[in-house]
This record gives sequence, structure tokens and C-alpha cells, in this order.
Amino acid sequence: MAQRDKLTLATLRNRKKNKTPITMLTAYDYPTAQIEEEAGIDCILVGDSAAQVVLGHGSTLQATMDFMIAITAAVRRGAPTAFLVGDMPYLSFHVNTEEAIRNAGRFMAEAGCDCVKIEGDRRIVDTVRALASATIPVMVHMGLRPQAVHQFGGYRAQGRDAGSAQRLIDDAKVMEDAGACALLLEAVPPEPARIITESTGLPVIGCGAGPHVDGHVVVVHDMLGLTSGPLPKFVKRYGDIRSQVASAVQSYAQEILERRYPAAEHCYQMEPGEAAKLHPAS
Ligand code: KIV
Repeated sequence: MAQRDKLTLATLRNRKKNKTPITMLTAYDYPTAQIEEEAGIDCILVGDSAAQVVLGHGSTLQATMDFMIAITAAVRRGAPTAFLVGDMPYLSFHVNTEEAIRNAGRFMAEAGCDCVKIEGDRRIVDTVRALASATIPVMVHMGLRPQAVHQFGGYRAQGRDAGSAQRLIDDAKVMEDAGACALLLEAVPPEPARIITESTGLPVIGCGAGPHVDGHVVVVHDMLGLTSGPLPKFVKRYGDIRSQVASAVQSYAQEILERRYPAAEHCYQMEPGEAAKLHPAS
């Protein structure tokens, strides 16, 4: 792919205006970020889902600030022109607005993000306002919020009845008025997602929010077929990387056992005549 210009918030706003879908994927490491950058993915989210798909925890709550900053900086090195979103982990923005600004500032200054993402409903509006006032662009993650899994009582779609869907629609407006730069809707039916998308000037990214949003994101391990176990309903698998990796690992082990690896072409050669001078240690 030809070198592209750096994607910015202005690019995303133009995409919405021109009705050109925004492509977004998660990434958690340098090589995956390079692949996504080369494939022309617009936005990369370094999600706190890393706690699950990279570290093997049962929820996202175990992601820490230092871990998120380290992997986000690695992704930036691999994807210099993508619009990079840093996911603020559990309790990194809840205690008070001062802590939220300091932690969000690390994503911007240390990891090279273009914006941060925080999960919440109207109860976090003061934090959104504080981050925006501190010149930190903030994407608000609404609908199913994995950091609130214990409060929700599981990973359930949100906004399925008129009352809760209307609350989402109203909360989206509250976030826009507070200065959010974009919205992310997870596991929300298409009807409220469409109303939110059409009634806000903010780019709206869906993660299981139907076809009417401005862009789409999923966890890269899920769409590649790297995740073991069941996937959310909204994920489509575009690869079967887990079985490809398994097959390569099995072949490697088999060839070692059969002494077929390493072969001559994998060995360093001594300079001519030098091997003959060697003898066992005396
Ligand atoms: O952490 C994450 O990967 C996310 C996406 C599922 C939207 O927040």
C-alpha cells in the first residue's frame, strides 16, 4: 500500500459526513499493528480486552495502566499513521477527575494515542468534560460495558427494550454536549444505534451495533479465529489462524523428533579448514 497521510479526528468526521465507513480493529502488539496499518485499517483500538485475549484473564478488569501503556506504545510503533485509541483500564478514571486526566495524559504523551476511550453512562459525564477541557479527545464506550460486567450480571446486549434504548439515546446526547469526540456502541440493537448515529455529529463506532453506525470494530483475535471458545453473536470469523498456528507448531515438534530440523541449510558454516583443527577439551 502507498504511504498514507496520518488519520486524525478530522478524517473521521469527514468519513461520517461523506458516509464512508470507518474501519477499526483492536491490536495489542507491534507485528499485528504493522499488518493492520499495511491493510489500511483506519483506527486501531488497543483494548483492555488484552487482559482476556493476551493475558488469559476471565474479564477485562485485570488490565493495568502500565501494561496498557506498554502495549499501546508498541502498537503505535507498528502503526504510525492509524488513528490510535487507548483504552483506559478499570479504575483508571473512576476515582476522581485529576487521576483520570493524569492517566489519560499518559496514553497521549507516552503511548502516542490520538484519543482515549472510557466506558460509562451519564454518571461519568464530569470525567468526559474534564478530559475534553484538558485537551484530551475522549471516545465514550456505551451499551455493553465489559468493565461493568459484575453490575450487569454478565455480558448481555443492552438497549433491547424501549426504556433502556431511550436511555442510551439520551446518554449519547449528554456525552456529545460534554465534549466527547466519538462514541462506541457495544452490543446494542440496530434501531437505537441508528437513531444515535443520525442524531449526533460525532463518529459512532459499532461493536455489535448493526449496520447503520459510522464504523465497526471487533477484537482482532476473534475475527482471525485465534480465540478459543464461543464468540459474541456479532463476530464474523475471517480466518482460522488458531489451526494454522497449531499445525505449524506440531510440524516443528515432529521434525525435531524425527531429526529433520535443523537441516544443513539452517546451520552456520565454519571457515574452510577450521573444523579440522578442533579436538575435545583436554
Ligand atoms: O477492549 C476492547 O477490545 C473493546 C472492544 C470490544 C470495543 O472495548
